[in-house]
Amino acid sequence: MSSAYEELRAECLQCAACPLSAQRKQVVFGAGPAPCDLMVIGEAPGADEDEQGEPFVGRAGQLLTKMLSAVNINRDTDAYIANICKCRPPNNRPPEKTEMSACMHWLKSQIKLVRPKIIVLAGSTAMRGMLGDNLRGITKERGKWVTCEGVDALIIFHPSYLLRYPSSEAGSPKWQTWQDLKAVKSALEYKKLEKC
Ligand code: URA
Repeated sequence: MSSAYEELRAECLQCAACPLSAQRKQVVFGAGPAPCDLMVIGEAPGADEDEQGEPFVGRAGQLLTKMLSAVNINRDTDAYIANICKCRPPNNRPPEKTEMSACMHWLKSQIKLVRPKIIVLAGSTAMRGMLGDNLRGITKERGKWVTCEGVDALIIFHPSYLLRYPSSEAGSPKWQTWQDLKAVKSALEYKKLEKC
């Protein structure tokens, strides 16, 4: 980890720019190697993440870890994981627009330091937070490749949504996400080849 990364993290841990800071137990800055070819962006910490200070460690996080691993992506070594908001919204409500904009500069700085080749936008809040409101619903947009902060990015379902639809039959949201993650893995391999 570079000193620029550590400085950014230390600064973020002190952030009090929006009201979510008053209720948090911990700032959930992000986790994983930096730089890293793959960055996953979620919504905001939940209760488990707030408790542990790490992103995606609750049930949704465990599913994300499992699905990444199914396509040979090791969550700890091959992915940098962060959220649109660094502090937990009360009762796990989606973050408000003002909270998202107060927090966005941290994520943009993280993207600059992590220098991902591929970004995965997990769920509607990540999609809208990074790409704007001019999009259809997540069920229409998932599976679409876009450009996010100048980086190739894929929109996928949020793992919490997948927890509500446990079927993995062909065509199900879980199956679709598996196709998406396979596409992410191929794109990462292709980017590696391009470098040779
Ligand atoms: N959901 C998210 O979007 N992020 C987390 O870190 C945990 C759950």
